[in-house]
Amino acid sequence: MAGAEELAARLAAELAEAGDLTPQWRGPFETVLRHRFVPETVWVQDGDRLVPVHRADDEEAWLRSCYANEFVITQVDDGVPAGPGRVGYEITSSASRPDVVAMMLAALEAGPGMNVLEVGTGTGWNAALLAERLGDDRVTSVEVDPVVADRARRTLRAEGYKITVACGDGAHGHLESAPFDRVIATAAAQRVPPAWAAQTRPGGRVLVPWTTDFHNGALVSFLVQGDGTMRGRIVGNVAFMPLRAQRGKRASLDRHVHGMTQARRSSTETHPYSVLGEYDASLAVGLKVPHCKLIVTPGSGEGAYTVWLVDPWSRSWASLEHEPGTEEFPIRQSGERDLWQEVEDAFNWWDGLDRPASDRWGLTVTPNGQFVWLDDEDHRIDR
Ligand SMILES: C[S@@+](CC[C@H](N)C(=O)[O-])C[C@H]1O[C@@H](n2cnc3c(N)ncnc32)[C@H](O)[C@@H]1O
Repeated sequence: MAGAEELAARLAAELAEAGDLTPQWRGPFETVLRHRFVPETVWVQDGDRLVPVHRADDEEAWLRSCYANEFVITQVDDGVPAGPGRVGYEITSSASRPDVVAMMLAALEAGPGMNVLEVGTGTGWNAALLAERLGDDRVTSVEVDPVVADRARRTLRAEGYKITVACGDGAHGHLESAPFDRVIATAAAQRVPPAWAAQTRPGGRVLVPWTTDFHNGALVSFLVQGDGTMRGRIVGNVAFMPLRAQRGKRASLDRHVHGMTQARRSSTETHPYSVLGEYDASLAVGLKVPHCKLIVTPGSGEGAYTVWLVDPWSRSWASLEHEPGTEEFPIRQSGERDLWQEVEDAFNWWDGLDRPASDRWGLTVTPNGQFVWLDDEDHRIDR
């Protein structure tokens, strides 16, 4: 099997060919060896559980996974696997997918000499890539988990980088290293912390994976104004784990779906794929419908599935049964909210706006909160 340097060069070539890696970042991708940042134990999906895989058990498979264009799960359940026999349920730290890392570094528009804050150190790989290009005294990274922070700090030192790794809630930024020219968050925010705008120079950029309860997948690039506000547009589709304090509630069918027989029944001719499967549509639904989590389970026949909408706060839920070849889909709704109706109304609202694409949405963050707009700030969206 090829050695790590060759695997890193191949991955960089693949990403460059796909248009994900810009020439400026190719050198760092070839130099900073990802496997040096990945822990000896990683986790892989096994149904709805996460199970450990140890480097010592299969060195080649471990090394291959470090240089595949995939994210690598490096911590589950905040470091204490919650299931029996060291089985985990929730991903709490990972090395992000290389094409996403490359795309975000390009979107950051960071150049040599700029002072950068990264929120979510994780393995430290992204921080090392930044340091390789900007200089290691120019990079500060904040990690909320003490064990993850400590490991990243030690790895970065061992690899020769003098990056400041602080342990704490990155939502507060890192005042001691401010002002920044760039802030890059590698954990997702529903409510974007105003501290990131306050600690960035006017004209600087803040890059944030922005999420709603319904939709996890918009990268916003903000331009900082200088009066404590920043405004930005959606520039990409990325999915990250949320900032720890913004995790909200996990929706679970076992815990939150009860009273099937008493649920209110109806039907719809709106195909679930057009609402949930289309990126622009589901993004817009997420802007309008708060506290609504989506779960899809396979049905009994081929191509059959059930869409579940769950509000773990009010314990409302809805289900939609999809059978291939049918044009009418049975709905059940339970609790104080009619969740499917809310989702369908939001879809129709988006349709009535002429189906705006994701890059027409913007977000403004002020010291007091945030608001969403379409095309410009004069067209704010009520949520
Ligand atoms: C996807 S990982 C980051 C990947 C990382 N940049 C890398 O190169 O490996 C997200 C990280 O954000 C951390 N995190 C979550 N909430 C945070 C917060 N409020 N402040 C700082 N770090 C946070 C998680 O513990 C996790 O390690």
